[in-house]
Amino acid sequence: MVKICCIGAGYVGGPTMAVIALKCPSVEVAVVDISVARITAWNSDVLPIYEPGLDEVVKQRRGKNLFFSTDVEKHVSEADIIFVSVNTPTKTRGLGAGKAADLTYWESAARMIADVSKSDKIVVEKSTVPVKTAEAIERILTHNSKGIKYQILSNPEFLAEGTAIEDLFNPDRVLIGGRETTEGQEAIKALKAVYAHWVPEERIICTNLWSAELSKLAANAFLAQRISSVNAMSALCEATGADVSQVSHAVGKDTRIGPKFLNASVGFGGSCFQKDILNLVYICECNGLTEVANYWKQVIKVNDYQKNRFVNRIVSSMFNTVSGKKIAVLGFAFKKDTGDTRETPAIDVCNGLLGDNARLNIYDPEVTEDQIKRDLSMKKFDWDHPFHLQPMSPTSTKQVNVVWDAYEAAKDAHGLCIITEWDEFKKLDYKKIFDSMQKPAFVFDGRNIVNAEKLREIGFIVYSIGKPLDPWLKDMPAVA
Ligand code: NAD
Ligand code: UDX
Repeated sequence: MVKICCIGAGYVGGPTMAVIALKCPSVEVAVVDISVARITAWNSDVLPIYEPGLDEVVKQRRGKNLFFSTDVEKHVSEADIIFVSVNTPTKTRGLGAGKAADLTYWESAARMIADVSKSDKIVVEKSTVPVKTAEAIERILTHNSKGIKYQILSNPEFLAEGTAIEDLFNPDRVLIGGRETTEGQEAIKALKAVYAHWVPEERIICTNLWSAELSKLAANAFLAQRISSVNAMSALCEATGADVSQVSHAVGKDTRIGPKFLNASVGFGGSCFQKDILNLVYICECNGLTEVANYWKQVIKVNDYQKNRFVNRIVSSMFNTVSGKKIAVLGFAFKKDTGDTRETPAIDVCNGLLGDNARLNIYDPEVTEDQIKRDLSMKKFDWDHPFHLQPMSPTSTKQVNVVWDAYEAAKDAHGLCIITEWDEFKKLDYKKIFDSMQKPAFVFDGRNIVNAEKLREIGFIVYSIGKPLDPWLKDMPAVA
């Protein structure tokens, strides 16, 4: 029986290994983590992450060929294939701070593998890492090898949160990079055999190590670039009277461009896009490619611009101040169908409003009060450290009230802003909401999910990203 061990029981390690266990009953899969709380949750009825379809998969295989454990060393030493799916945060200090990937967790995992291994291993990079990380890992392993042979593979993960199980069941592609030696090719074959249990062979792409590592950063950069492109257009639409949804539709009909990932929004969030582009920018700079670095940096600058523009629009619409005003914030997760708040635009929007002394009533169906308060008091980039190591600074969130219902959030509010596109926000009784709010009552739709015309009929003043402006908003100071 092939034994797989995955180091890191997070958003990637947990779902990916659960699906491998489901699709490969003949493979034994152990997912290990240094966080006791996370492993305890994986072994309980309330999993540590919310992901549609995940519970069923875990329930089917847990205790059969899927195990969650804190006994990292035991499972690593017994495994044939070791996936490493630990955090690779942005460095917060020292060389490359604010851009480069911090490989502390990866390096400590590699040193531990070298310490405890007693047989040959295939070590798979599942985390997103800078190009050439495999070389560094290879050096750590071989310098401590005690005669044991290691093959390093790059097998980046392309799942998106909220659709992780669907993406894993039916991936567009599985990418495996390895050394172009006989041993390297054999290792690729062994990993390919695991995926071949359910992924059609033509969707398994095999490349050299550096292409696989770079393809992951490139794919995320291309995806984020599309969003910044449409968001840049949304600002121009507001200035000219064009409608960004109509523009996206027309542009996306070109089969060379395609319709996906062209939804204008308050800005992209999530643990990957910003971190991976910063990492790409740093690699370009280290290779003397300043123009290339500046090109990709712009994707992040436009994203920051979009989040600021949204806050400025709220403030300027409400007579240029939100001081003491109550704002209902609907949605805090970085997208629907996840409880994940890493790099969510909600943090920047809420902090921007708090900076103008607003009072916030926040509601999200999947995010806890603790998490929201923690996020609003955390320093930039601190979030991407193992759960139990995240700093808990005293919160400065007296102006923040977390509630468990959208109607409760809207009560007495001057304005309501939609940050996450949860389906339930489309179906709310907006007449009831209007009646409970201060007047004039504003809706700022950061996801273009409500029917603005219907809301205007009720009496709301409505701002929708990239749509022709309400006459009220046109008369207010320009927003840049
Ligand atoms: P995560 O924070 O959810 O999980 C990482 C886990 O690794 C944590 O539970 C942490 O405790 C554990 N860990 C850290 N160091 C460890 C060690 N030395 N030994 C054992 N456990 C250790 O992160 P994630 O979202 O699963 O991301 C993991 C990697 O995958 C990152 O490189 C990320 O960029 C990449 N990735 C993430 C996504 C996504 O959608 N979240 C998608 C593709 C790729
Ligand atoms: C992303 C990549 O899609 C995935 O392939 C990779 O493995 C990890 O990073 P994820 O961050 O989970 O996945 O979600 P994604 O669906 O890409 O959304 C990222 C952000 O972009 C979200 O905040 C989302 O709301 C936003 N977005 C997405 C838009 O604003 N407009 C769009 O058209 C699409």
